[in-house]
Amino acid sequence: MRVQVVDHPLVAHKLTQLRRVETPSNRFRELTKELVMLLSYEASETMATEPVEIQTPVTATTGTQLAGPKPLVVPILRAGLGMLDGMTAMIPTAEVGFLGMARDEETLNIITYAERLPDDLTGRHVFVLDPMLATGGTLAEAVRFLKRAGAAKVTCICLLAAPEGIERLRSEVSDLEIELFLGSIDEKLNEKAYIVPGLGDAGDRLYGLAD
Ligand code: URA
Repeated sequence: MRVQVVDHPLVAHKLTQLRRVETPSNRFRELTKELVMLLSYEASETMATEPVEIQTPVTATTGTQLAGPKPLVVPILRAGLGMLDGMTAMIPTAEVGFLGMARDEETLNIITYAERLPDDLTGRHVFVLDPMLATGGTLAEAVRFLKRAGAAKVTCICLLAAPEGIERLRSEVSDLEIELFLGSIDEKLNEKAYIVPGLGDAGDRLYGLAD
């Protein structure tokens, strides 16, 4: 499993603004979009391309275009939705599917409560969006789900990750071809499974419930 922290001054600066407790939700959404654009630039480096013959105003030449099949972007509801605009701004030809996942508080199992994906993902490069890689349970389940549906490669983009979540992915799904692109690996999870220092509840902060 490839794990890459995008080490860039703009990412570090914007993440710091995002973490601040006083950052209001409208700014939080803007920063999330900007961060996803920066992270997706790195995360898309292995996308397949093909040559294409084009005509410029001056001459004919061989250019490059993204090769098919179209990439699929899958935000994990709810907080992953806040990352969608940045991703589709960078890859406008991508298709978008949705996965809604939550933890059953009794069994602690991850349940998939919503799923809107193309039937067959064979050969597709899938980008999963989830801002917080905390325990890793949701992302591990999402990766398994997408691989079962035939995805050729799964690239996960997260703003923050806890070491515990990365280790869980390593132990549970490292046999599958997956990549992780992260804004930062934070210190740890606290007893409520929040990332420390983190930024709080990403969904609440995106959608105004923390303001
Ligand atoms: N989900 C969040 O929104 N925040 C955390 O810190 C962990 C999981």
